Amino acid sequence: MHIIIFIFLFFIILSNGQLSSFNPVWIGPKFRETSMQSISESIQLSEDCGIQKESKHKRFPWAVSFTVDGVNRLGGSIISPYHILTAAHGFITAIGVGGNLCMNLPANRSMYRDIEDLQKTRKIAYGGECIRGFTENLPNNENCSKPDVVFNTIRSVLIDGDFVAGRCIDGHDWAIVEVENRIKFNENVAPICLPRKKMYHSKTLSVPGWGRRYIFNESGPMIHEIPMRIDPDCPRARPWSDNLPIDASDYICATSLDTRDYFAPRTCHGDSGGGLEYRDDFEKTHLIAMTSFGTKGCPANMLARFTRVDRYTQLICQFTGVCYSV
Ligand SMILES: *[C@@H]1O[C@H](CO)[C@@H](O)[C@H](O)[C@H]1NC(C)=O
Ligand SMILES: *[C@@H]1O[C@H](CO)[C@@H](O)[C@H](O)[C@H]1NC(C)=O
Ligand SMILES: *[C@@H]1O[C@H](CO)[C@@H](O)[C@H](O)[C@H]1NC(C)=O
Repeated sequence: MHIIIFIFLFFIILSNGQLSSFNPVWIGPKFRETSMQSISESIQLSEDCGIQKESKHKRFPWAVSFTVDGVNRLGGSIISPYHILTAAHGFITAIGVGGNLCMNLPANRSMYRDIEDLQKTRKIAYGGECIRGFTENLPNNENCSKPDVVFNTIRSVLIDGDFVAGRCIDGHDWAIVEVENRIKFNENVAPICLPRKKMYHSKTLSVPGWGRRYIFNESGPMIHEIPMRIDPDCPRARPWSDNLPIDASDYICATSLDTRDYFAPRTCHGDSGGGLEYRDDFEKTHLIAMTSFGTKGCPANMLARFTRVDRYTQLICQFTGVCYSV
């Protein structure tokens, strides 16, 4: 089995005029020309994105679960018919289930998963609430008697190489996945909107996903929504026991709504990559950030870290053609 990773280093001028380097790492081939959105397709996406159909259960038609044998392993959000935004650390081998960062490990190519393995073991599920039906050995949900999602395959992954270069503590925890088969949009499947600057002042946001409810329990089959509150004082006023990285400029922090309730909903394992979402006054939902890291054990009073999407809209535009938020 051979690993196909191309590493390119080049410089781009970001829209704010700063000269900044971007170090793309490809797991698999470069994205296809045909997956690149044209200007008119990008404009169409800006009109169709983020519309959440209200029903008995709130739906998240852009939410994605990367599953392994029916178990959710990573979240993500659909932004175009070919592209999913997620976290880089889901494609790194050196990160354990406990959320241990890859500090002190030499940054080298074997830290990235290989594309054949990803294509064989990962299924991309979206367009429904239940990623599996009743099972013998895994948690079940009375409202999930059978899966109602559609499945797709990873074709290629573009990772921000500075994530590993920064020993996983310097931010850059984001990645774009290109899917094998064009995603068909319908009432259950839709792209989320990319953000605009002013949305980062909003306090309460939500993360839909299939992550674990509690640290020791494998995740269930049903999507759930986790309300999270942005902590604008992060990292200055953080709990003494929080020893996660603080200095990354592309992180925002959030906590559960009730930090005194140990069982309050909050992000946990499997929510990584999932969107921190903001719903605007026109009922459109925007992807503010991607779930990155939380404290081991997922305590409700601890700050969780999220990678800001607005820092990367220029690069997202460059590689996917989704350019309406630049
Ligand atoms: C690359 O890093 C891994 C650990 O992350 C280590 O096991 C392996 O020996 C390293 N390979 C090289 C060529 O340095
Ligand atoms: C199943 O759906 C019903 C009706 O919406 C709801 O009341 C119940 O709490 C759900 N059960 C689970 C385990 O989510
Ligand atoms: C964890 O799973 C066990 C066994 O399936 C179950 O009895 C228990 O209620 C679950 N705990 C929580 C907090 O959901």
